[in-house]
Amino acid sequence: MQPSVLIIEDEEGVRSALAKRLKMHGYTADMAATGADGLKRLADGGTDLVLLDYRLPDADGLELLDKIRRQWPDILTVMMTAYTNVEIAIQAIRLGAYDYVSKPFSLDEMMVVVDKALEAKRLRTEVERIRTKEIEEFGFDRIVAHSPKMLEIVNLLKHLAESEARTILLQGESGTGKDLAAKVVHFHSPRAGRPFMNITCTALPETLLESELFGHEKGAFTDARQQKQGLFEMADGGTIFLDEIGDMPASLQAKLLRFLEEKAFRRVGGTKDIRVDVRIIAATNRHLRTLVADGRFREDLFYRLNVFPVTLPPLRERPEDIPLLAEYFIRQYNREFRKEVTGIEPAALAAIRAYRWPGNVREVRNVIERVMLLLAGSRLTLDDLPSELKTPAPATVIAERPLTVIEFGPEGIDIHEVERLLVRKALDQTHGNQSRAAALLRISRDQLRYRMQKYGLQDHAAESSP
Ligand SMILES: Nc1ncnc2c1ncn2[C@@H]1O[C@H](COP(=O)(O)OP(=O)(O)OP(=O)(O)O)[C@@H](O)[C@H]1O
Ligand SMILES: [Mg+2]
Repeated sequence: MQPSVLIIEDEEGVRSALAKRLKMHGYTADMAATGADGLKRLADGGTDLVLLDYRLPDADGLELLDKIRRQWPDILTVMMTAYTNVEIAIQAIRLGAYDYVSKPFSLDEMMVVVDKALEAKRLRTEVERIRTKEIEEFGFDRIVAHSPKMLEIVNLLKHLAESEARTILLQGESGTGKDLAAKVVHFHSPRAGRPFMNITCTALPETLLESELFGHEKGAFTDARQQKQGLFEMADGGTIFLDEIGDMPASLQAKLLRFLEEKAFRRVGGTKDIRVDVRIIAATNRHLRTLVADGRFREDLFYRLNVFPVTLPPLRERPEDIPLLAEYFIRQYNREFRKEVTGIEPAALAAIRAYRWPGNVREVRNVIERVMLLLAGSRLTLDDLPSELKTPAPATVIAERPLTVIEFGPEGIDIHEVERLLVRKALDQTHGNQSRAAALLRISRDQLRYRMQKYGLQDHAAESSP
């Protein structure tokens, strides 16, 4: 489709010269001599760009511009003004004109502006198209959920997506679906049309991370040759996904807290407060409360983030979801690898169900991907599965393995300290769930509670722990 330009201009000579030149360039050119006629043509649709004269017999150019901007926000406008009247040009830009050209202008000059405007329009349409695709791609049906636990979580996520919640905290072991949940929430929120920015707090050294998030002023540090916007500014109106928040350096924790409390921040080296409207979705596969107890995460920030906590359960706590996920990934890789695997043999399914899946959903995906790549038949059999699924490792072997790395020094090791560390590790791994921690340690809940008290680990329990 050729881009279509509408010229609203009362001077016949200017109008037809412009139209001729536009057509030479391969554009469609349409003409109107009055404001009223121009509006009529715009209503017919299909216009990408308007070249609008400031002085028309029946209308004031600025008023017309305002009307066009309101009624057809996707159409770009270039204002043609008298060169003596800079005021008008400035007002036009304020009202949302893409650019202005002062009369008299050469056709070459005008074509540079037209090309630039149409390129900007093309990019905007492209961005819009990608967004629409993402909204479709990250539907709630992307989250495979069958177990009551997951259905409840999907429901909660739906509520949060539409709510005014400014912060959401996603916790859960690695591979349980935190990234996926964050994207689905964003693309189902009123913020879906605005950016989703994703940053992993461990990916960059502290100073770079700060300027990445908050931007910097020119000269703020040696390499800061130019002022730079940070993700917070770029995401205005949208969502920022702060992954691995538990590893955020202390200085940034303080800055983030200030932002959450005041909705304002400063660029690195800046003195001016900048206000933006963003939703923060923070995620971690560590137990934040434990990090707080250890003094590695600010308590005040933890409470700020913990207003809407969502914990994605490990797969072994929702075994009903395992077969569904396996089938879901089989369908996905059928498409990707052009295969026609129709199902899973009962013995293979039993092994898949029985396995503990320490890597959670990601591990299911990876295993199915590997199996599907090699699979020749149309059904997945026990033989096709990797060895770890066929012969589950006995638990005692796992328990003995860490002992091989312990060396007794001359002072020896305090055995109570070892016990304390084990209790803490169990609470950490279960996100403070006392029943599960007790099960991991193979002791009763009362025995666990006794030890938590003895070692001062009460803070490590989850609030709702049974
Ligand atoms: N319920 C689910 N339904 C379908 N796919 C899922 C589900 N949960 C997770 N996945 C998929 O499993 C993979 C791992 O999930 P994701 O990256 O969201 O995990 P994570 O919790 O962010 O892990 P990490 O802590 O390691 O970053 C992704 O490909 C994701 O799309
Ligand atoms: Mg992740």
